[in-house]
This record gives sequence, structure tokens and C-alpha cells, in this order.
Amino acid sequence: MALVSMGPMLKRARAQGYGIAAYNMIDYNSARAVVEGAQALDAPVIVQVSVKTVKHWGYTPIAHWVRDLAATVDVPVALHLDHCTDLDVLRRCIDAGWTSVMFDGSSLPFEENLDKSLKAYAMTEQAGVGLEAEIGAIGGVEDDKHVNEDEARLANFDECVRFVRDMPNLAVFAPAIGTAHGMYKGEAKIAYDLLERITASISIPIALHGGTGLTEEQFHRCIAGGCAKVNISTMHKMLYINSFVKLKEQKPNLEEPLTFIAAQNEAMKEDVKSVIKIFGSAGKAADARSVLTQRH
Ligand code: 13P
Repeated sequence: MALVSMGPMLKRARAQGYGIAAYNMIDYNSARAVVEGAQALDAPVIVQVSVKTVKHWGYTPIAHWVRDLAATVDVPVALHLDHCTDLDVLRRCIDAGWTSVMFDGSSLPFEENLDKSLKAYAMTEQAGVGLEAEIGAIGGVEDDKHVNEDEARLANFDECVRFVRDMPNLAVFAPAIGTAHGMYKGEAKIAYDLLERITASISIPIALHGGTGLTEEQFHRCIAGGCAKVNISTMHKMLYINSFVKLKEQKPNLEEPLTFIAAQNEAMKEDVKSVIKIFGSAGKAADARSVLTQRH
């Protein structure tokens, strides 16, 4: 299939009570594992890319890789840009073929975040691609963004309502609800009451950041509470590295790189499949495809 926009399928996922996995790809092999894992379980999926990764490989190669991978499967695949603070990078991704982008103004004072997010919204609306925007401050480390525990801040409910008011077509909304990027020290403290309040007044699907390390029960509660896009990065990165290391330890004389790449692909793919099962999106490709003609 051609790449799809994530907005309509996220709306559908929220309405139907399942979550769509959004994996931060590292390279071609990792994007391939994500797409193949989704295809194996007949699930819609989002391949997302951090700004650092875009800058490492370049805009066009990434767009080509993911577009070509999507063309080999019949499950819906969206190409999304993760946390981006630079409108120029957003524009370049849109021009290269991304089907949605995230503007992250969460480190700015509320009014400034709103103002810049509205600019990003105008840009994406005009280009016909989806937008994700964030408020509050999600803790942890993602890409070059470090938010210490004492800086992490839950989204303010009234600000959430105001924030989305002029962005009715937002593909997905990312309020900080207590999850964090990276590994958790102890169990994540999720503000379910805040999530409930938000979803009771805002119909836009919610993005759950900081998926690595959450328990099955936490995923289920968040997805049932309106989180339709569920982000996983750290676990994917760990498997990317550890699968290589483990194989080398098991077979120190092995020298064929393709054998390592195949083992790495398998390890990442198995994780994608287990996550898709937890999120309830296995077998939902046709359900997600049924809404693709709707606006982003
Ligand atoms: P983790 O690294 O905790 O899986 O979070 C991923 C994420 O939210 C990317 O934006």
C-alpha cells in the first residue's frame, strides 16, 4: 500500500478501543522489522522517526525506505516525525513525503507553545498531512531532549481544552499524563484521572509517550482511556544493540554481517508482534483501512 495518514486510523482505533503501535525506527533494518511485524499480525502501524535519526540518514533515504516497505505489505503504514521543535524540519519532512509530523513546543510557556503549534497546524493543514502536538512536560530522555524528574509536569486540564480548541483536525494530542521516555525507576505513576477528564471533553485521539517499561495492565487502561497511538523507542533500541552483542557472545567466530542483521531483525520483529497483541491491534488492518479516505 501507499503510505497512509495516521489521523483517521487513530480516530477509528480510539473509537474501537485498540492502540496502534508507533515505533521509533533506527535504520532500514529496524523499519523493516516494524513493518514486517505489523504485516505478520495484520495490524496497522506507525513508523516514526526522531529528528536526530532524520539528520543522520537524510530526509529522502528514510522516506524512500519506509515508502518502499509499505508498498510490499497490505497493512496501513504511516510515516511520522517524532518530537520536533523546528518548523523548518517539519516542512522538510512534509516535502520529503512524511504523512504526519509532531511539533513539540512543550518546553515553552503555554502561550508560546500554543502560538507555535498553531503555526505548525496551519502548515500541516495546508499540506494535507497530520499533526501531533504536546503540552505538559513528559519526563526522561528522547532524542536530544532531557527532561529531569523535577521538570516533568502533568498537562493542565484547562490548558488542554484551550490548546486543541483551534486545532480541531489535530491527528493526535499528546498531553503529559505521568509517563516518561526511557526506562522507569519503579512503576510509572500514570494520572488516569487526568486522562479520563481529557478524553471526556476532547475527542481527538491521545498519544501515549514513554511506552517502554509500562505493564500490560497500564497499556490496557491507557488504551481503554483513549490512547490510540502508543510510542515505543527505548525497547526497540535495546533490542537493536543487544541482539548483535548476544549473537557475538554465543558465536564469537561468526563473521557474516548478514547473519547478525537477520538476528537483529528477528529480535525487533518479535517485540513488535508481542506489543501489537497487547495493544489489541492484531487483525485490525481492514478496520483501519476502512477509514483511510477521510481527512488526515
Ligand atoms: P520510550 O523510549 O520510553 O519507549 O518512549 C518512546 C516515545 O514516547 C517516543 O516519543
